Amino acid sequence: MLESPTTEAGASTAPAQASEEVLVLDFGGQYSQLIARRIRECGVFAELLPATTGVEAIQERAPKGLVLSGGPASVYEVGAPRFPTELLELEIPVLGICYGMQAMVQALGGRVEAAEAGEFGRTDLALIDSGGHLLAGLPEEQHCWMSHRDAVFEPPDGFTALASSPGSPVAACEYPDRGLYGIQFHPEVVHTPYGTEILNRFLRDVAGCEQQWSPQSVIEEQVGKIRAQVGEGRVICGLSGGVDSSVAALLVHKAIGEQLTCVFVDHGLMRLNEAEQVVAAFEQFGIPLVHVEAEQRFLEKLAGHDEPERKRKIIGEEFIRVFEEEATKLEDAAFLVQGTLYSDVIESGGSEGAATIKSHHNVGGLPEDLEFELVEPLRMLFKDEVRAVGAELGLPERMVWRQPFPGPGLAIRIVGGEVSKERLDILRAADAILQEEIRAADLYRQLWQSFCVLPVVRSVGVQGDGRTYAYPIVIRAVTSDDAMTADWARLPYDLLERVSNRIINEITDVNRVALDISSKPPATIEWE
Ligand code: XMP
Repeated sequence: MLESPTTEAGASTAPAQASEEVLVLDFGGQYSQLIARRIRECGVFAELLPATTGVEAIQERAPKGLVLSGGPASVYEVGAPRFPTELLELEIPVLGICYGMQAMVQALGGRVEAAEAGEFGRTDLALIDSGGHLLAGLPEEQHCWMSHRDAVFEPPDGFTALASSPGSPVAACEYPDRGLYGIQFHPEVVHTPYGTEILNRFLRDVAGCEQQWSPQSVIEEQVGKIRAQVGEGRVICGLSGGVDSSVAALLVHKAIGEQLTCVFVDHGLMRLNEAEQVVAAFEQFGIPLVHVEAEQRFLEKLAGHDEPERKRKIIGEEFIRVFEEEATKLEDAAFLVQGTLYSDVIESGGSEGAATIKSHHNVGGLPEDLEFELVEPLRMLFKDEVRAVGAELGLPERMVWRQPFPGPGLAIRIVGGEVSKERLDILRAADAILQEEIRAADLYRQLWQSFCVLPVVRSVGVQGDGRTYAYPIVIRAVTSDDAMTADWARLPYDLLERVSNRIINEITDVNRVALDISSKPPATIEWE
């Protein structure tokens, strides 16, 4: 997590420009993004670039250091990512990790071969000669996280071996005079206990990085960029209530004040009191906000439809229509704020300049036929950095830490039937109870998402002296890192009991509560 550098008196230190950077060349490893995140957590700006990036382009950026990531290939395979040896001649310090180390070693004449057995997971590591420069001061015996089948058997001329593991005769090596370092294990994963120390050693002692990458430096830099891009122009921002669009709006407002107008299309599919929270937060910041209360319009359009993709399409189209109506009222607006994140930029394979528009999954997407220039102040930030910047800007804790919430809102949680006001109110009430109890149990931040689902079926129950025929509510709570995979959360039984009792007692139209214990895959997080 980004730390705010503070003086003893608690006041913020002068924000630094993020001009020092480390480039991470991505050879396709599963942890490449994580390497960049960890480096930033060490207070140094890091950007991920494809391993195919030309040497000249790298040289132009004059990075303080280069990190070569892991990757799935074997260096001696035909078709393995080519390693541009010129990179090692640039007098820029290099840290090779896993495949990155093997590629460097092989390129310089060392010996990389398939090991008798691969090493996957927690592995013992023993230092050689006290760990040389890179690993100096660390315990002679320690654990690390490995994920490899090939190993370095002999380092190239001039290198010294710094550590070994049962399956890697050379698990780390260095050539300090040339600024070249390699480690077979993964310092970026939490299972390597001294990983952060090793990254810091490379960043500070080897690469000489000094400047702080911090929430304040991000704010300072973005404010400058936004002012330069927008000038005197008018800017519009669609708010969804989520952390990304809120932080993007706050940054732009800090930069250009009332030149920004936010439009919050309230489709009536939000959770209990959520719309009010958004309005109150933006009022508090004095940000001009158009709150479009469009519940009725959305409900009319949704009436009679129970097919999930149809619902999504209706909501997406109606959202754009409403947004367009408001945008055309602000005739002179030439810029549109988008909360595009760095992970979206990486996934779309783009770097600076590639317009990435989150639209398919997000009702906050760009209306296609409106001609705006995009303002994307979060383009270089990971999600946890967005939260840190939001907190620094004073965004309420509830909004900073909001779990992901789908653009089409509760509509895709009313399953197998049409979305009606009555059903939305039942689902909202159940969801509010679940959220309240999960927060009270201090579990909210540990869960990727937690919510209720309303299947449109009724079942028999008995309450008091009478039979009931009412809806069930399904509790869905998952842990996940990125929503690609997810596991069902092992919520405590007493919490589940409280939630179930309260939902059934407090909501007359519900007589049964079930728990979804499916992982993704094969299920998905949402039910629709
Ligand atoms: P699934 O259900 O596919 O969801 O496991 C993965 C993540 O995406 C979110 N999600 C959506 N977000 N519009 C959105 O903005 C949608 O239509 C939508 N459908 C799913 C879901 O909440 C989870 O975080």
